[in-house]
Amino acid sequence: MNITDKVTQALDANSPEDKLQLMTAPWGAIASRVPGWSRVIHYLFFKSVFQAMPEIKTVLILGVYMGRDITIMLDVCAGRALQVVGVDRFADQPCDDWAPEKKGQTWAESGFGDAPDIKKALDNINPQEPHQVKLIQSDSAVFLANVTGQFDFIYIDTSHDYDTVKREIEAVRKLCHPGTLLAGDDFINEGKEWWGVDRAVGDSFKPQTASVLGQMIWYGAAADLK
Ligand SMILES: C[S@@+](CC[C@H](N)C(=O)[O-])C[C@H]1O[C@@H](n2cnc3c(N)ncnc32)[C@H](O)[C@@H]1O
Repeated sequence: MNITDKVTQALDANSPEDKLQLMTAPWGAIASRVPGWSRVIHYLFFKSVFQAMPEIKTVLILGVYMGRDITIMLDVCAGRALQVVGVDRFADQPCDDWAPEKKGQTWAESGFGDAPDIKKALDNINPQEPHQVKLIQSDSAVFLANVTGQFDFIYIDTSHDYDTVKREIEAVRKLCHPGTLLAGDDFINEGKEWWGVDRAVGDSFKPQTASVLGQMIWYGAAADLK
């Protein structure tokens, strides 16, 4: 069974009600403490990924904001050691997927809350042994042009416009081994026609090889990239 199917199998293992009950309490504790947009479905997704792939040890996440997804990952990986690298601009600057009328605004002016902050993110994540978390303040394009090495799981959640997602998927290819899982957030554009995650994923993977959870989180094997 390939890794995309393994993750789908883990997601299907319980009834929707079971899953909701199981996930709500730990997710709620994290969501009340760490700002962000990730919901119960993200908790379910990360729990299922790490359950399906016990071999995951190294994680790259592009787009950290205040650290909610990394906090979830560490929570679902209690008892095993993860090495996580998180990359974000960590700056009060508009993202490329903001609505045209918000392009010149700050995070607060745009209604997105506090700007991403590396110190707050690290405080929120509060990594404990045996986990190791390294946060890097960089544009993803600059980081990906210079980084070497390999990751078992790469999660893409920066700007959701077509060009950024397509570029990031292409650029992480060199960081993948045959068993690497790729995934990312905000698959459908929910009325924001300037977004393009679905098209970027569709253009990057071989037909019908990437999967989507709840029309939101896409995932696929790096080995299935075109
Ligand atoms: C949707 S938020 C990420 C949420 C995060 N995954 C979490 O756990 O809450 C998007 C983040 O991507 C960052 N970002 C946007 N474009 C970027 C780029 N080109 N390079 C690096 N970071 C970027 C923003 O600063 C913002 O913090």
